[in-house]
Amino acid sequence: MNVPQTIRWESGRLLLLDQRRLPGEIEYLDIETLEDAVEAIRTLAVRGAPAIGIAAAYAMVVALRHSPDMRADAESAGAALEAARPTAVNLRWAVRRMQRIAADTPSFEALLREASTIHEEDRALCRAIGEHGRDLIEPGHNLLTHCNAGSLAVSELGTATAPMYLAHADGVPFHVYVDETRPLLQGARLTAWELSRAGIDVTLICDNMAASLMAGGRVDLVIVGTDRVARNGDVANKIGTLSLAVLARHFRVPFYVACPASTYDADTATGADIEIEQRHPDEVRSSWSADVRAYNPAFDVTPAELVTGIITNRGIATAPLAENLALLMSA
Ligand code: MRU
Repeated sequence: MNVPQTIRWESGRLLLLDQRRLPGEIEYLDIETLEDAVEAIRTLAVRGAPAIGIAAAYAMVVALRHSPDMRADAESAGAALEAARPTAVNLRWAVRRMQRIAADTPSFEALLREASTIHEEDRALCRAIGEHGRDLIEPGHNLLTHCNAGSLAVSELGTATAPMYLAHADGVPFHVYVDETRPLLQGARLTAWELSRAGIDVTLICDNMAASLMAGGRVDLVIVGTDRVARNGDVANKIGTLSLAVLARHFRVPFYVACPASTYDADTATGADIEIEQRHPDEVRSSWSADVRAYNPAFDVTPAELVTGIITNRGIATAPLAENLALLMSA
């Protein structure tokens, strides 16, 4: 599969594809310290829920490799990484796995083995999401996706894009509308780039065009990713996802969310309990509106009742989401 490698561990070095510079430049950042990693996550050089988890796991290896007290240092390094972005639960999940290793078998080798396992597992999880979701895509379908839940956001196939990559590999003809995704343009810069590069038929649209496309019957299926699924099935994802879900319900278009099991957070009861990251207003302002007040929440919460199904590595959960997710996650 012709997909970009977001995270590489090579000869003892952590290399992160700098997504701020895509698609113009393909440059890898050399992450030498914990501070480098925190900065890369905070500024979205590496982004997407599973990818920040994997990057944080390797960052723990970097941070702890010369530590005289791995257990104590794992606590502070983990806290710094978790604070870099609050919404995606995968970051906390990966950090906690690394902290357990630092406490139980504190060695560089054991930490690296765990980070590589998290990375390797993610490849398999994305493939499984793709296997479960591929049959939703029928010949001639027009899909719509938002932000980037693609290979750039994970280890390999993406979550929302995994069914697309597998259906494409099977020779199923389909087409994808990609929302540009204001304000940081993950759709325009990242998803449109990676899908086109893989030979998938793509049309880029502005975020405010989805309603008119759906009204014209031009969207058959929406698939997006998520940063956290609450116990009741509410999903947090990139700001703008909620508008798509509302539109999809109005125009009777199936609305699917794709994620690995690690994005399900049994400790979060509902979407109202998910911390929504607030980013700098300058990301929203432009040169002609430099002095105006701006509001910049990075994510929104789509209520479970607007979600047709959640495509996971364990199968697709449909309504009632709370019960069916719990069954799938405990299997
Ligand atoms: O702010 P970003 O670019 O990290 O937001 C990413 C998303 O909203 C993705 O849809 C989500 O993390 C799922 S990635 C498989």
